[in-house]
Amino acid sequence: MYFLAFFLFIAACVQFADPQVFNPIDYGAKGDGISNDTEAVRATLAAVAANKGGEVLFDSQFAFLTGCFNITSNVILNVKGTILASQDSSNYIQVRGALQWQSLVQANSASNITITGGGTIDGQGAPWWACLHRGNDSLHLHGPPCNGLDRPNLIMLAQTNNINIHNITLKDSPILNTHLHGCTNVHMSHITVLAPWDSPNTDGFDIDCSVNVLLEDSFYSGGDDAIAIGCGDSRATSSENVLIRNMTVERSHGLSIGSGTLGGVRNITFDHITGVYLLVFMTLIDY
Ligand SMILES: *[C@@H]1O[C@H](CO)[C@@H](O)[C@H](O)[C@H]1NC(C)=O
Ligand SMILES: *[C@@H]1O[C@H](CO)[C@@H](O)[C@H](O)[C@H]1NC(C)=O
Ligand SMILES: *[C@@H]1O[C@H](CO)[C@@H](O)[C@H](O)[C@H]1NC(C)=O
Ligand SMILES: *[C@@H]1O[C@H](CO)[C@@H](O)[C@H](O)[C@H]1NC(C)=O
Ligand SMILES: *[C@@H]1O[C@H](CO)[C@@H](O)[C@H](O)[C@H]1NC(C)=O
Ligand SMILES: *[C@@H]1O[C@H](CO)[C@@H](O)[C@H](O)[C@H]1NC(C)=O
Ligand SMILES: *[C@@H]1O[C@H](CO)[C@@H](O)[C@H](O)[C@H]1NC(C)=O
Repeated sequence: MYFLAFFLFIAACVQFADPQVFNPIDYGAKGDGISNDTEAVRATLAAVAANKGGEVLFDSQFAFLTGCFNITSNVILNVKGTILASQDSSNYIQVRGALQWQSLVQANSASNITITGGGTIDGQGAPWWACLHRGNDSLHLHGPPCNGLDRPNLIMLAQTNNINIHNITLKDSPILNTHLHGCTNVHMSHITVLAPWDSPNTDGFDIDCSVNVLLEDSFYSGGDDAIAIGCGDSRATSSENVLIRNMTVERSHGLSIGSGTLGGVRNITFDHITGVYLLVFMTLIDY
């Protein structure tokens, strides 16, 4: 048995050589936090996609001001420095068939995606939050930067498998911080989510119609639900086998399970959620 494990270990080392590194600076990014790096960042992601994977390095001494971009399969987003979300909707693309700007970091139908590095993805959400306060109700998204469409999420991964998000700070998202939809095999850990207590809809972790999700060792302080688990998509079955443990929740509207649910949730466990909820232990099966 030990010999077999050893051989498998060697095989893994041979098969998974260090991924090729792609640096936005090499694609024309300035990384000064002021210049428009959208085109350079998208070019970097296009290059790593053409390579069928690799590591995109947002290096520690830089702040990349960018609009939305897509991540494809087998990509490691290594954020050692800062990604600053543009506050100008000209840097975003409308989601096809939806009245919303595309999420800053978006993956569709991909697999094997890692987001890490110890750095920060800063949504710079203030002007996006202000759209809501201008109108009579949440649908009054007139004026910049919303310009009639709903705000972009910070990270949205849709129909994506084998996701690892760890060791990263997510700050001031325009709306949701991490939105999983139709994803399978997800591990999220050591994530810090920060937003002001009065920032609208800045949920931490939205787990929609996703299966086999482990979220642990993370921190939330923000303006809405720390964690929301559901499945509001009639085509999908449910959110299943979700384990949330060792979370610290400072400020939030709470934990939301099954709200807006069509497909339902099944086998959700919360273990050691501290802060507002001092020591919660709860398992839901066939909710
Ligand atoms: C930034 O660059 C992108 C891509 O070239 C472009 O679509 C956008 O209009 C630019 N934004 C600003 C504010 O200049
Ligand atoms: C991201 O991919 C979607 C299709 O999956 C596409 O519609 C969109 O234009 C892409 N966005 C960018 C910034 O390339
Ligand atoms: C996942 O992607 C990384 C980065 O490209 C690569 O090194 C690794 O081999 C991939 N893993 C699998 C199981 O394909
Ligand atoms: C997070 O990333 C930083 C910078 O790369 C590293 O020094 C640190 O050890 C990492 N922490 C964890 C918990 O992975
Ligand atoms: C508020 O609602 C009223 C009635 O629906 C509308 O006439 C008005 O333009 C709205 N004001 C703003 C700032 O959206
Ligand atoms: C719980 O998570 C925190 C990070 O938020 C970490 O420092 C701590 O070691 C974790 N505790 C356990 C028992 O894993
Ligand atoms: C419930 O989910 C956990 C992971 O959180 C998994 O280990 C367990 O097998 C699941 N139980 C059932 C009955 O599916």
